[in-house]
Amino acid sequence: MQFALIARRPTPTNEELAAVAGPGSRWELMTPEEALDVLVAGDVALGRLDVLPTLDGMDDGLWALGALAARGVVVLNDPPALLGAHDKLLTSRLLRRAGVPHPQTWHVRDGRPAPVPRLPVVVKPRFGSWGSEVHRCAEYGELHSALASVRDTTWFTRHGALVQELVTPSGYDLRIVVAEGRVVGSVFRIAAPGEWRTNVALGGVRRAVTQPPLDACTIAIAAAAAIGASLVGVDLLPDGESWTVLELNGAVELTHEYAPWGDVFSEIASVLRRTALERLSLRTHLARDIA
Ligand SMILES: Nc1ncnc2c1ncn2[C@@H]1O[C@H](COP(=O)(O)OP(=O)(O)O)[C@@H](O)[C@H]1O
Ligand SMILES: [Mg+2]
Repeated sequence: MQFALIARRPTPTNEELAAVAGPGSRWELMTPEEALDVLVAGDVALGRLDVLPTLDGMDDGLWALGALAARGVVVLNDPPALLGAHDKLLTSRLLRRAGVPHPQTWHVRDGRPAPVPRLPVVVKPRFGSWGSEVHRCAEYGELHSALASVRDTTWFTRHGALVQELVTPSGYDLRIVVAEGRVVGSVFRIAAPGEWRTNVALGGVRRAVTQPPLDACTIAIAAAAAIGASLVGVDLLPDGESWTVLELNGAVELTHEYAPWGDVFSEIASVLRRTALERLSLRTHLARDIA
């Protein structure tokens, strides 16, 4: 039986996961094409396709994950789960439907009536990452300028933009990593001085969390379930007495700070391996029952 990480790029997290020595099995890094060449029914694949650096969509390869599943490979973070995380419009709809707290979000496209949201709001790409092209607007003039500044990008032409209610920034957020319905790691991200966005790519720093708040964990687990993800990073912003989910990271990047009490990489590798084996054994039982 083979365990594969399906990705376009060997990121540090993909390499750390692939380096975990499991009992009798390792997760091997493969492109979607390589996976189609070698994986067979009963093997296991974890989708690690990411948002494109151009922000105009996702890595090519969802089609391969679908083909692998049809062939009998157990696919974790399957195409619906990856889309549910990477497409922030879909994330918003899925979270709302599941009753998970999330700021109100509107879709803006050329040729469609523009929403008139209550300010302040944030303008962002539908497939975004690294805090790129995320604009905060306190006045309608700023909203019009932000939309005008992105109008000619390929990502806006392809997907439009999202306008989202601003959750009053507190200078930090909490990222909780959920694997198969369990919290396996978390970290606070502190925004850089003078920066309201918490992204590490924008100078934010990680601070270890000894014990993530229980209410945040419950919300993060509900958010992961809402999109059907096996492994996801859930970003939560403090909101009054509780938390609101801002986004889900389907190809979450991890460091050892996420689980100061253990090893987040080997924990994830073993939780996912166990789930895949349970799914395979369930399949065998069902097949036996039918026969
Ligand atoms: N609606 C919002 N309310 C408050 N802060 C926000 C909001 N949207 C984005 N931010 C800030 O901007 C950062 C980047 O936005 P996010 O939606 O997570 O996009 P990205 O995928 O680029 O990280 C967040 O980490 C957060 O600090
Ligand atoms: Mg983010």
